[in-house]
Amino acid sequence: MMKRGIKSTESLESISETRAAQYFVLFGSLGDLSLRKIFPAWYQLECAGLLGKSLKILGVARDEMSKDQFQQKIIDALKFRVPSEHFEEDVCKRLVGRIDYFQLDFQTATGYQQLKHTIKDCGGQIVYYLATSPNISEAVCDNLYKTGAITNSSRIVVEKPIGHNLTSSKVINDKLASYFNEEQIYRIDHYLGKETVQNLIALRFGNSILSSQWNHNSIEYVEITAAESVGIEGRWSYYDDVGQMRDMIQSHLLQLLCLVAMEPPAKLNAQSIRNKKEQVLQALVPISENNVSTSLIRGQYCDGQSLEEVAPGYLNEIDAKSQSETETFICIRAEIANWRWSGTPFYLRTGKRMPEKVTEIVIHFKADSHFIFDSDQKSMAGNSLIIRLQPTEGISLQVLTKSQGLEQGMRLRRDPLHLDFSESQKISRIPDAYERLLLEVLKGDQSLFVSRNEVELAWTWCDQAIDAWRQSSQPLYPYSAGSYGPDVAKVFIQKYGHEWHEDR
Ligand code: BG6
Repeated sequence: MMKRGIKSTESLESISETRAAQYFVLFGSLGDLSLRKIFPAWYQLECAGLLGKSLKILGVARDEMSKDQFQQKIIDALKFRVPSEHFEEDVCKRLVGRIDYFQLDFQTATGYQQLKHTIKDCGGQIVYYLATSPNISEAVCDNLYKTGAITNSSRIVVEKPIGHNLTSSKVINDKLASYFNEEQIYRIDHYLGKETVQNLIALRFGNSILSSQWNHNSIEYVEITAAESVGIEGRWSYYDDVGQMRDMIQSHLLQLLCLVAMEPPAKLNAQSIRNKKEQVLQALVPISENNVSTSLIRGQYCDGQSLEEVAPGYLNEIDAKSQSETETFICIRAEIANWRWSGTPFYLRTGKRMPEKVTEIVIHFKADSHFIFDSDQKSMAGNSLIIRLQPTEGISLQVLTKSQGLEQGMRLRRDPLHLDFSESQKISRIPDAYERLLLEVLKGDQSLFVSRNEVELAWTWCDQAIDAWRQSSQPLYPYSAGSYGPDVAKVFIQKYGHEWHEDR
């Protein structure tokens, strides 16, 4: 059978042969995350032959059901989630053969003793994955510890959010630290598992043409956009307590900023990379009462149209209250006070109910100081490098060329030098972030996971910004569902002579 996806990475070839016995215990195994992301990722890893022979998966959930019933649920989920052209019955059978089920009431201690016996009987290393809601994680950790189910070789995987602010994130991190060493804790930010995000490292540090220009002397500004066309998707009450700053900026966008801005790590390992990312977070200029009005715009969507369908405003979504000050859109002008980036702003922008789902980083290079072409074309000067994470992964460098034709004279046009990964690397499918992350947990490499320091530094910066806007008289700007956010977001960056990529 042809192996695909992640398999193309050479160093992974021998994993399935060399890996010792591992037992993967998935808490919340019937939840949305497990069925939508984690089991489909296991399927793809199985398909690519990347799972050790003795790997076993134990689904843990509250529901009373037999092993057969649980396995059937997983098969149904896989049939629904895995695109039909990639679905193979025998792969599904092999995966399901690894899966067992354990029913547990997470909050009460009694069942954990039996869980421990089940796990012990299987031998090998144990990975606990908490795909549960954050308020249950604490009880799970306590009970695992009390029953002696945590050993020096255990690993634990936790999902965001790690807290709601710095104080609550410290409580969670302290709890984790009381049972596990930092080397045993894998904090997921699924953006770090996306292929193109990892490509940032290759692009920045593998290409001298870029690494030599990667600083404030050559780069005018950086744009990081994560736009989503979806709204709140039925989770209004949860989201209203969180907003786009906590949901997206604190984690995904700050992680992207770190990868774009960090100094070259001495080595390609977790310690060096995390260390360099932490330095970026430490150098972020705080958003305070003094600079909040020039650093940040918040918006909330109102009725409009999304993907050609009528879309309700945030306050008209299911379960919505009639009033809310929660932002569904935010854009921030972030500054990094260090030698490399002083004077180069990083614009972070993310929102729900925008015209399309797109995540991209745009590096705007400075124009040459002297422009020899017709002056009416001067605004076109300066190259942009577009790194697109989704929906289609690729890199494109916008260059100026001459318009073809005798009658054109020396008229300029902007054209892309374009690299589409699925075409250039002839792969039929780009692996989902969870495939990469599961594999890294099994390998024991923490490079793509977030350290305690990173989480806490990111919260420190976000908490300050949230406090600053609360104390200011900054309005919450309405924007129509299906637009790129409030119009003021355009003016906000135009003031500095900059433009969003879609407006250029
Ligand atoms: C999650 C957020 O972390 O990321 C969601 O909680 C958001 O609100 C999602 O929709 C976006 O992830 P992706 O991979 O679809 O860009």
